[in-house]
Amino acid sequence: MTADPLPYPLRLTGTGIILREWRPDDLDDLVALLDEPEIARWTPMPSPFDAEAGRAYLKRAHQGRANGSRIQLAITADGGPPVGEVLLFAVDSNLREAELGYLVGHPYRRRGLASGALSLLSGYACHTLRLRRLLLRIDPANVASTSVARRCGYWLTGEPPIHQEGPYGPTQLDTWEFVDGRVATRTERLKNVAARRYGRRT
Ligand SMILES: CC(C)(COP(=O)(O)OP(=O)(O)OC[C@H]1O[C@@H](n2cnc3c(N)ncnc32)[C@H](O)[C@@H]1OP(=O)(O)O)[C@@H](O)C(=O)NCCC(=O)NCCS
Repeated sequence: MTADPLPYPLRLTGTGIILREWRPDDLDDLVALLDEPEIARWTPMPSPFDAEAGRAYLKRAHQGRANGSRIQLAITADGGPPVGEVLLFAVDSNLREAELGYLVGHPYRRRGLASGALSLLSGYACHTLRLRRLLLRIDPANVASTSVARRCGYWLTGEPPIHQEGPYGPTQLDTWEFVDGRVATRTERLKNVAARRYGRRT
């Protein structure tokens, strides 16, 4: 991939999932999704997340999309109301790397939406954007997020944890990676450091 801006606008369709651009009329839904304790606990979102925070968020999202520096898409079932968000940012064109992130609103969790959205965007990043290495930074205590990473074929790396200060005190973020779109074999998964830390997964 060159240092070209990321494609905009973008709409990605998967099984039972459509990722689409955020729209100004998503404001009320966005606030309802993000003003929630788990989002406050595990993401850098302001809390409480009110309409003013929502307007600022949509504005920044639009700027990042229009200048091509990031991909930031609403997760929807059918292109309608948003139920979450998936992002791709911090692109390093020389290393062909980028970081991804995700969140799903409380009423919509445990339905495979984060996994579906992350798989869809990861596939697009590898096959269309030709990125070689995709990264997730996750607090090891965030079991839901580490489960999503593992389900989508990401591996826990042995990279040193990233120290972060937040309203809940200091945290150490692990780095997970997805390299060259390659899904690990079962043997590789069992040997993986994540299997040692989080238990085996068949
Ligand atoms: C993390 C989050 C995005 C997961 O969204 P989701 O749509 O519920 O995830 P999925 O339904 O795709 O679940 C994927 C896997 O995670 C597991 N999982 C989801 N939530 C879980 C929880 N609270 N505890 C344990 N496992 C959980 C699912 O059972 C599933 O496992 P499986 O592969 O064994 O079936 C959601 O909980 C969230 O938005 N949390 C707050 C924001 C956040 O933490 N973002 C990530 C920051 S790194």
